Amino acid sequence: MLFDTHAHLNDPKFADDRDQVIRRAREEFGVQTIINVGYNRETIRTTLELAEAYDFIYAAVGWHPHDAKDCTEEDLAWIRELTEHPKVVALGEMGLDYYWDNSPRDVQAEVFRRQIAIARETGYPIIIHDRDAHEDVVRILKEEGADEVGGVMHCFGGDLAIMEECLRLNFMIGLGGPVTFKNRATLPKEIARNVPLDRLLLETDCPYLAPHPYRGKRNETGYVRLVAEAIAELRGITFEELAQATQENAKRLFRLP
Ligand code: NI
Repeated sequence: MLFDTHAHLNDPKFADDRDQVIRRAREEFGVQTIINVGYNRETIRTTLELAEAYDFIYAAVGWHPHDAKDCTEEDLAWIRELTEHPKVVALGEMGLDYYWDNSPRDVQAEVFRRQIAIARETGYPIIIHDRDAHEDVVRILKEEGADEVGGVMHCFGGDLAIMEECLRLNFMIGLGGPVTFKNRATLPKEIARNVPLDRLLLETDCPYLAPHPYRGKRNETGYVRLVAEAIAELRGITFEELAQATQENAKRLFRLP
């Protein structure tokens, strides 16, 4: 009954055992639905292959701020076209990354704005990547009217004040491995305790950000269960309640039956 709203199962780190990882997630960990996220030319292509191969895997397509400098008009037109694909349920991940600054910030912003426009045109929810850029992300979401379609703040790393801003902008909060870390600042835990239950989504971001006790190792989509258990404990509710609420939220946001 779990829903992993952010996976990169097309990553080369799964080249040797991708099918086993996916099967394990379903059979051992109770994962029912997965959204795999493509974020540049190559990963969009392999994300679609995966979504076409498994009926319970859906696709998000977008352009990552890291690769913004390589994004062409053709790429944006392609993303627009892919919204017609039956397994595409969201646009992204898109946003700003001021930690790595792999593309100039003005180019990151432009590619981000163009994709929000596509989302508004087509009515698709948005998956946001925000690293050390909270203020500018929120400002651009406001300026571009992103609240009209909403979406999810993937791997949310802000504080309670920024969370409130995102909620007002019609966005949900995605939480993953960091809520389980033992020796880490308590911000993700504070968010996990305080985010309204009807606005919370679970995610792994696998192969990255593996939860405790696998921290530093390859993450798997099945480990979303450890994220769910940690958040349920932080909130003082049962695992079942948490799993059901977050699954309903994901189905509502991505319009799945
Ligand atoms: Ni990601």
